Amino acid sequence: MAGDVGVQDYPIVWKKNVAPDHVELILQAPMLARAVPGQFVHVRTPGTLRRPISFSRIDPESGQVGLLFQVVGEGTAWLSQRSENSLLNIIGPLGRGFPPPKAERPWCLVGGGVGIPPLYAALYAWRHRVTAPISVILGARTADYVIMRQDFAKLVNQPIEVTTDDGSLGSKGTVLGPLARWRSRHPEGQVFACGPTPMLAGVANLLQGMGSVYLALEQRMGCGVGACLACVVLGEGENGPEWRRVCHDGPVFSAEELIWR
Ligand SMILES: Cc1cc2nc3c(=O)[nH]c(=O)nc-3n(C[C@H](O)[C@H](O)[C@H](O)COP(=O)(O)OP(=O)(O)OC[C@H]3O[C@@H](n4cnc5c(N)ncnc54)[C@H](O)[C@@H]3O)c2cc1C
Ligand code: FES
Repeated sequence: MAGDVGVQDYPIVWKKNVAPDHVELILQAPMLARAVPGQFVHVRTPGTLRRPISFSRIDPESGQVGLLFQVVGEGTAWLSQRSENSLLNIIGPLGRGFPPPKAERPWCLVGGGVGIPPLYAALYAWRHRVTAPISVILGARTADYVIMRQDFAKLVNQPIEVTTDDGSLGSKGTVLGPLARWRSRHPEGQVFACGPTPMLAGVANLLQGMGSVYLALEQRMGCGVGACLACVVLGEGENGPEWRRVCHDGPVFSAEELIWR
């Protein structure tokens, strides 16, 4: 069950640099620890707009959640400079997360770059629910950016497949190669993916007609609660294309719901 949306200050209890310019903050936040994997929070940073970040970890038992982000601009730079015990003002949990995976269907989690963290939260939440084989495919620019690999490895029995653009870890290329091989072995499987838009478009095209394919999008946002239309993408409507708000209708969508051309 998703937690009610609230605005609150939460303390940072732990901070770690996980890769060059990638930081993970663990917050003591029982209200957020009821979130569904794939949902996100809107974090206040200096200036006018908040910044959306997905949950990298959700642990209802300890009441802790994780936010893992790449430093790309002012907001994330400010966040990366917060120290343990300081407070973050957060609205959340927001948006629509992943649906629980079906127990009996092979499950593949496909993450690219900073899209990897929400998939770890999904695996952590539902690893005992799925009785069929669980596969993980992680892609990144170079070996340094294959984040959370050891965390995933602790939760699945099979080796994690890794791809890097330069071949510095795993196989050279994108996640689409291993995903195509997985699909041919498991045509009845289910896929959760998160990563850059070109990767998600590739996943949607590759898995066309497969059914249970869910993609978590990252779009520039304004309000984060469905009011400003800053985050819209084109979806399939009953009478033709229609806009979908990533913050409110997503960020997780079924691949069939969206138009990728
Ligand atoms: C639902 C959702 C979940 C997200 N989860 C994560 C996460 O878990 N970890 C993470 O590192 N990032 C995540 N992002 C992206 C993150 O919100 C942005 O990187 C952040 O807002 C940038 O803020 P900034 O002030 O540092 O940079 P800005 O100064 O605002 O921008 C710096 C650069 O980043 C680009 N940029 C900004 N926002 C986005 C965006 N949403 N998508 C693509 N490019 C962007 C800008 O075009 C610009 O080039 C998520 C975004 C959404 C919508
Ligand atoms: S960010 Fe305002 S509608 Fe989505």
